[in-house]
Amino acid sequence: MNILSPSILAADCARLGEQIDLVQQAGAEYLHIDIMDGMFVPSISFGMCVVSSLRKYTDIIFDVHLMVEEPTRYAADFARCGADIITVHLEACSNVEETLEWIHSLGRKAGLSIKPATPIRCVEKYLDQIDMLLVMTVEPGFGGQRYLPASTARIREARRMIEEKGLNVDIEVDGGITKKNVATVLEAGANVIVAGSAIFSGDISQNVRDMMEILNGGGKKAEP
Ligand code: DX5
Ligand code: ZN
Repeated sequence: MNILSPSILAADCARLGEQIDLVQQAGAEYLHIDIMDGMFVPSISFGMCVVSSLRKYTDIIFDVHLMVEEPTRYAADFARCGADIITVHLEACSNVEETLEWIHSLGRKAGLSIKPATPIRCVEKYLDQIDMLLVMTVEPGFGGQRYLPASTARIREARRMIEEKGLNVDIEVDGGITKKNVATVLEAGANVIVAGSAIFSGDISQNVRDMMEILNGGGKKAEP
């Protein structure tokens, strides 16, 4: 099953509730929440109070992407604030295995993310401990960047590794995904699609509907 996870980094924060209603009503099942600490990535985004306020407002699944150095420091806070899926970066953890165990012990799904320069094979030994692999398709840190074309082969490699092991792990992609290239990442094996600018610029409901149509198999063929 393919899932759309709109990234609120591109939303109008003064109208967050309203815009979340729009994406949910149009068919998005996840909400992607980017947490940036100014260390792992240069920028700073949302904190716990934003997540807990939104949790009281909506029941949509919170897909929380921690771009945070040593994320064990905050996993329990975000679990308490309402995160359903907690994704950490391989490059940010001093002990990846313990971090993933910690997230599961909090009763949350665990995601593991890698930056574009990290070889896909580095996640192989963790695949049986995760619910989702997040393959970054831009350098993490900012919305509105261009999809890195080398990502397509990386997604394909990840899907092959997961299939070879007979595992049921979602592959999420994040960064520069648009209506034009989403068919390409789906074809390569991604099934959880993050999109920020492509959803929150212009007509939000229409953007979600267009994207959902492609996710549900009704869209264009993948670009070569
Ligand atoms: C980037 C963030 C993304 C970002 C994607 O570091 O992890 O989730 O919001 O934005 P777009 O879809 O605009 O590239
Ligand atoms: Zn993200």
